[in-house]
Amino acid sequence: MLGGMTAPTFSHELSVASALAREAGALLLSHLRAGFTVEHKTSADDPVTVADREASTLITTRLAQVFPLDGLLSEEEEDSQDRLSAARVWIVDPIDGTVNYFYGIPHFCVSIAFVQEGKIAVGALYNPMLGEMFAAKAGGGATLNGRPMKVSATPDMRSATVELGWSMRRPMEDYVAMLNRVVKEGAGIRRSGSGALGLAYVADGRTDAYAELHINSWDCLAGILMVNEAGGWTNDFLAGDGLTKGNPILASTPVLREAMVKATGIR
Ligand code: IPD
Repeated sequence: MLGGMTAPTFSHELSVASALAREAGALLLSHLRAGFTVEHKTSADDPVTVADREASTLITTRLAQVFPLDGLLSEEEEDSQDRLSAARVWIVDPIDGTVNYFYGIPHFCVSIAFVQEGKIAVGALYNPMLGEMFAAKAGGGATLNGRPMKVSATPDMRSATVELGWSMRRPMEDYVAMLNRVVKEGAGIRRSGSGALGLAYVADGRTDAYAELHINSWDCLAGILMVNEAGGWTNDFLAGDGLTKGNPILASTPVLREAMVKATGIR
C-alpha cells in the first residue's frame, strides 16, 4: 500500500483473459473437427482460416465490452496507433502455432496478454488440445492449470534443450548460423512451431531456453511474463517499437543466460 493506494492485482484482467482463451480454444477445436479452408495473408508463411478470424472476433468483441477504454492489438485486426499507445493495451493471438493447427498437431494455443504502462501485467495461453492453461500475473507468479511453474535447473549448455524459432521474416542463413553456434555449445535443438508455447515451456522447465531473431508481440508477450514470473530471464522485448513491429526474443534460465546471449547475439 502506497500513500493509501493499493497496487493493482490484475486479478480481474487475468480471469477475463483466461476465460476468453478457454472459450476461443473451444471454438478452434470445433472448427478443427468440422474442417476448414486455408488462405494466405501475404506468403506461405502467413496462413489464416475462418477459425483465426472467428476466435479473434470473439476475444476482441468481449474485451471491448468489458474494458471499453483499453487499446487492442490482435494478429488479425489492429486498433488505432493512438489507442495502442494507451496506458492499458490488450494483445491477442487467436492461434499461435497456426501451421500445427492446420495439421491437427496438438501444439498450438490462444494467447492473450495485457500491458499496463509499457509493462506486461497479465498473460494467458491455452492449448485446447491438451487442456493446458498457462497463466501469469506480474508479481503474482506463473501457473499451469493452477500449479506454480518454475524454470529448469539445468546446469550447463551441454545438458540443455533449446528451442530456436524461425519465420520467413528473417533470412534462413541467419537462423542456420545461430543454430550452429547453439549446437557448438552442446545444446539439443528443437523447433515446434509455436513461439507462445515455446516460451511457456521454458517457464515450466520443459525446455531451458527459447530464441528467435524476430517475433511479433502477439506471439510472445504472454509467454515472456510467464518466463519472468517462473524465475527465468528475458531480453527487453518491448524496447523501441517492439509492441507494434516485433523484436528478437531470448528467454532462458538464469544459469544459461550468458551462454545463450553469446550464442544467439540477442541481449
Ligand atoms: C508463428 C509461430 C512460430 C514463430 C513465428 C510466429 P503464428 O506464429 O509462433 O513458432 O516462429 O515467429 O510468427 O503464425 O503461428 O501465429
